[in-house]
Amino acid sequence: MKKFYIRTFGCQMNINDSQKMSGMLKTLGYEPTNNWEEADVILVNTCSVREKPDQKVLSALGEFKKVKNKNPDAIIGVCGCLAQRAGYEILQKAPYIDMVFGTTNIHHLPQLLEEAKQGNKAVEILEEIDENENQLDSYPTVRDNKYTAYVTVIRGCDKKCTYCIVPTTRGKERSRRIGEIIQEVQWLVEDGVKEIHLIGQNVTAYGKDLGDVKFYELLYAVANVDGVERIRFTTGHPRDLDINTIKAMADIPQVCEALHLPIQAGSDKILKAMDRGYTQKEYLEKIELLKKYIPDIALSTDIIVGFPGETYEDYLETVKVVKEVKYDQIFAFKYSPRPGTPAADLKMTEDPKTLSKWLTDLINIQKNIAFEKNLAYEGKKVEVLVEEEKDGKLVGRSRTNKLVYFEGKHNLLGKLVDVKITKANRFSLEGTINEKELQLI
Ligand code: 5AD
Ligand code: SF4
Repeated sequence: MKKFYIRTFGCQMNINDSQKMSGMLKTLGYEPTNNWEEADVILVNTCSVREKPDQKVLSALGEFKKVKNKNPDAIIGVCGCLAQRAGYEILQKAPYIDMVFGTTNIHHLPQLLEEAKQGNKAVEILEEIDENENQLDSYPTVRDNKYTAYVTVIRGCDKKCTYCIVPTTRGKERSRRIGEIIQEVQWLVEDGVKEIHLIGQNVTAYGKDLGDVKFYELLYAVANVDGVERIRFTTGHPRDLDINTIKAMADIPQVCEALHLPIQAGSDKILKAMDRGYTQKEYLEKIELLKKYIPDIALSTDIIVGFPGETYEDYLETVKVVKEVKYDQIFAFKYSPRPGTPAADLKMTEDPKTLSKWLTDLINIQKNIAFEKNLAYEGKKVEVLVEEEKDGKLVGRSRTNKLVYFEGKHNLLGKLVDVKITKANRFSLEGTINEKELQLI
């Protein structure tokens, strides 16, 4: 049997696209391998959100090129956001590549592969959205995790954040029809999935383009599918997170008490320059509401340090918000100019060394907050979806998305169990279960 290997960079959307491509390749009779050296097809699903992932892709390609020494017929393909943005450039830099395709024509992989196998360069980077792109959704996903699954509900982004390449690489917002989403959720549940993670670049904008359905209604519809035990969603935009969604989060038992709500910066001046569409006060008001309706909610965020024009005082506003909100997790990165974005030509204000220090300081502040938040779990009971066995222990996630390790039998895999937390670590929790209590269930 021919084998395939996929290397994925970037966000959940890319991970989900790769899972669908695995489904496609399996349908075509290929089997997955973890060793690229023995693969007949290597796909690199790329990200372009910052310069670093761009570079990582190019170095990965340099490595994968060697596959052709042993297997000259092996096919190397590049897809995803960097391919969409700079596919032809990559082809020039790495002429040994056989296939390049963009973010909206992944469903053409079978035809492209056929063309590449005949020795042609198979290149398809569409400027316009392919109206048949949803065909991709009809393929089964091949997942590492048996009990949790991503479901793409909206593609693209209509926001115009001045630093961001995503509107260019992923195009305008397109929501999937609710019926198709529910159908996929049903298949996943039949396949043993317990936790549905709805994803999109801006999930909270779901339905705006369809006109007849809102995001919170989608949450209710997914919750109504028999067998859905947990629901999460990523990524929400503070502007589109409305009270109906917050109320639905509080009202629907399966929606987990966790939300990733990117703030990007704390200073109003920088938020304006980024064109985020909210002030610090407005963002904090949403956080207030979330905490009011969902008292135990775990919050996470994205932060960009050093956007052009950001002064130390502006940066301190970000630090202030981080301390005030007390996030469970932050994803902070230095600003990276992206070609073609409105901010690309703006002059960076601070030197890279200063920005590195700001970033490290911020991450250290957050480390202490996160540890403090984890410590508050000691002695408490949390519901854990048991996902895997690792080093003799069972591992799963709490509703608040904390990794929890505990001892227990193999037959608990895929089950929701109450775990009493005995120890908090910086990035995980440890606990015990009451076997007797479990046997009664
Ligand atoms: N530079 C640094 N970080 C960026 N992000 C998006 N664009 C850039 C950029 N040009 C970050 C944002 C976003 C996350 C996915 O990546 O914080 O929320
Ligand atoms: Fe990277 Fe953004 Fe593309 Fe996701 S959508 S892969 S984060 S550039």
